[in-house]
Amino acid sequence: MASNPHVLIINGPNLNMLGTRQPEVYGKVTLDDIESRCQETANELGVAIDFRQTNHEGEMIDWIQQSKGKFAGLIINAGAFSHTSVALLDALLACELPVIEVHLSNIYRREVFRQHSYVSQVASGVICGLGAIGYELALGAMSHRFHNPEK
Ligand code: DQA
Repeated sequence: MASNPHVLIINGPNLNMLGTRQPEVYGKVTLDDIESRCQETANELGVAIDFRQTNHEGEMIDWIQQSKGKFAGLIINAGAFSHTSVALLDALLACELPVIEVHLSNIYRREVFRQHSYVSQVASGVICGLGAIGYELALGAMSHRFHNPEK
């Protein structure tokens, strides 16, 4: 039997602070809670996940470069780097993986500087504003894509 497709889930700067960071914007759920929920969803979907967080742009880019050919898809909440990093966009273009972008908050209801994302330029889809469930929805969408490659 073929092994389960592997999905890399990358979280960017300050997302390790979830739970205590601006709970009025991001909710009270911690990143560990999100990882556990993603693991449960992945098990149900028959997908394997590698869930990571970094505060460092270069480390994020290294991970994306290394994901080429090793993962079947990438789910990314790049945090503030979404709005600032052309280097992140270039790495995502180079890795040639299907990308789904996630944000906990609705970036389009926030400050103008959050309303542009470099990640969106390469993402097949964007889920934002739905809180932690956005990650599980992204996994569902990724799994659907694996089973329906034409759609
Ligand atoms: C975020 C939105 C970004 O603007 C912000 O810098 C974050 C979190 C979100 O998940 O809503 O760090 O990506």
